Amino acid sequence: MSSLVQPARPEPSARAKSNGGKSERVRRHVLQTIDAGLGPHDRLPTERELAEQLGVSRLTVQRVLDDLTTENRIYRIQGSGTFVRPTRIAKSMELTSFSEDMRSRRMAPGSLEISVTQEPAGANLAALLELSPGSPVVSIRRVRTADGAPICLERSQLPAELVPGLSAEDVSGSLYELLAERYGIQIDRADQTIRATVLDPDDASDLEVPAYSAAFEVDRLAVDHRGRPVEHAVSLYRADRYSYQLTVAVAKRHGTG
Ligand code: GLP
Repeated sequence: MSSLVQPARPEPSARAKSNGGKSERVRRHVLQTIDAGLGPHDRLPTERELAEQLGVSRLTVQRVLDDLTTENRIYRIQGSGTFVRPTRIAKSMELTSFSEDMRSRRMAPGSLEISVTQEPAGANLAALLELSPGSPVVSIRRVRTADGAPICLERSQLPAELVPGLSAEDVSGSLYELLAERYGIQIDRADQTIRATVLDPDDASDLEVPAYSAAFEVDRLAVDHRGRPVEHAVSLYRADRYSYQLTVAVAKRHGTG
């Protein structure tokens, strides 16, 4: 999981080369600003600030930002600003759902204590899901079981507009199968962070372990086949019942025989 590669950089657009170099200057400035230390989802200066700093029109800035949006370097949220799009992890682990994960271990997946609620997205979640702050988000909380034993506490948040009518009964089985079958959403990739943590007393009680037991926390931002962020999830796995297995391979180098 250690190698992060930048996606291949497309050529600057014809437009960037055509208006006396102004667009090219704006483009270079924005990319340098990103490379100089902005992280995924960090906010870029506004169009007006960029236009003033660089002595160009807002229209020129807007066009350059349009191009960079098309090239997946940045994304824009109306009313909020322009943000850095995360780069992809090139050598990925296989992306699986909880149900697939359990079946591959020859255990039956299940869910208990399911709740589905809808609330407005706060600023951070809205930025992750590329929504305007306050847009409705569906939150799903489930205790996931393996052969009937609680093993994971999962909280998933999805843009409500993508999953109209979703109810608690709907997610007693696999969420990802439901997304594919009912909503035509195929999860294509995910950015994932795994860290060690301890369970607070409520979460520990749901997972039937003593308070402050060790757990893995897995944060996932899943993107669909159209590149839309569709799920932000935080899963807490019991450390005594779960391990992470990765297949690692020697990096293939380009241009060598
Ligand atoms: C994993 C992911 C979750 C995702 C879940 C879907 O556990 N960490 O983000 O919601 O899989 O699993 P299923 O399709 O079994 O509901």
